[in-house]
Amino acid sequence: MKIGVVGLGYIGSVTAAVLASARNKVVGIEIDKTRLDSFKSGEPPIYEPGLKEILSKNKKNIKFSSDFSELDGSDVVFLTVPTPTVNGKIDLQYIFSAAESVQKAVTDAVVVIKSTVVPGTAKEVHKRTGLTIVSNPEFTREGTAIEDTRRPNRVIIGATDKKAVDIVDRVWAFTKAPVIKTTNENAEMIKYASNAFLATKISFINEIANLCERIPGCDVEVIAKGMGLDQRIAPYFLKAGIGFGGSCFPKDTAALASFARENGETMSIIESAIKVNDERLERVLKLLKEGAGGSLVHKKVGILGVTFKENTDDVRGSQIVKLIKMLRAETATVGFYDPKAKIELDGVYRFPTKERCVEDSDIVLVATEWPEFKNLKITNKPVVDAKRILNPRNFKSFKAVGLYT
Ligand code: UGA
Repeated sequence: MKIGVVGLGYIGSVTAAVLASARNKVVGIEIDKTRLDSFKSGEPPIYEPGLKEILSKNKKNIKFSSDFSELDGSDVVFLTVPTPTVNGKIDLQYIFSAAESVQKAVTDAVVVIKSTVVPGTAKEVHKRTGLTIVSNPEFTREGTAIEDTRRPNRVIIGATDKKAVDIVDRVWAFTKAPVIKTTNENAEMIKYASNAFLATKISFINEIANLCERIPGCDVEVIAKGMGLDQRIAPYFLKAGIGFGGSCFPKDTAALASFARENGETMSIIESAIKVNDERLERVLKLLKEGAGGSLVHKKVGILGVTFKENTDDVRGSQIVKLIKMLRAETATVGFYDPKAKIELDGVYRFPTKERCVEDSDIVLVATEWPEFKNLKITNKPVVDAKRILNPRNFKSFKAVGLYT
């Protein structure tokens, strides 16, 4: 098929690459010139494991452009543009403007909304443009996005037009995943409900972690393991830590809560999950203060990892970046090491290696699950593990979320 992908962020670029590797002819549309040039030169502007390689291997099947008229003749066009929240409410302007540009460029392509949008959006886009809209949310995680796109747990296809549903079904047939064909609104809601549920699972275990820190003999890691072996609970998304960050969970939980309020309902569980998450930073700050002997005033805090999770360069919605601001307000001096983070922070030194970061700090905080941090051994200064990846036996002074010490 000829497939267009509009918006080459983390999701769009992976969607384009995977569909090109599934032997489709793909046109990736990106309006930011610098980003576009990076894709054209074979150096994607984002780090996602395997992305550069798969793009280079399939370059004959993929073309990058800022010109929407290149979409002419497409069977399917995916919209993978951002849907940010403004004051906690979803902002759909990029969806509407991308759909309008696509409408001018194509004759009878099926347009697929892959971005996360509140229920009713597909209908509204159809009303504004007359386009046939299919809702096909994605469930990929940054860091494992290629594998998640190639082998998803399920494919959700929401639309009223049967022919359009069949085309999108054919696009993803190579994944061999179970398919649910439903209404646009159900598809849109499945995405929000899934992200909100996963975020709630994280806040739930983080709240158990808070209690564990007060009860001698308790360790949230062991508790999560014991819970996760129950097949009804499952072990995933039960890792206590610094709270969920990134470009999805914080914005999607806020957007769903606000969408619910507009529709006369209060999502108490989701609102509590957001509150518990917001409080994570104070909790980690408290552990750091305790680890530093009561105060962080003029202390040098070395942070290992600032991305919102491991295996990405993405710092959007990173809890750690927020924590750094709080630490500086405490007059601590902050330095960090991260193997990939795309960030520069005013007044915060970036160390070239983890060893230097540890050496030049009074106290060390491990804040992202990068594999290279797992075997750390530090015996001459306090260490706080905000991601529960370290072996407590490798440290003399050790504090961790969810561990009584
Ligand atoms: C999330 C969802 O997992 C994907 O299914 C979804 O497609 C995506 O959002 C999206 O809507 O686009 P992502 O944000 O890339 O994916 O990353 P996750 O692996 O879900 O992690 C989100 C945050 O939760 C990270 O800060 C991570 O460190 C944290 N987390 C995750 C925990 O604190 N504990 C866990 O057990 C799992």
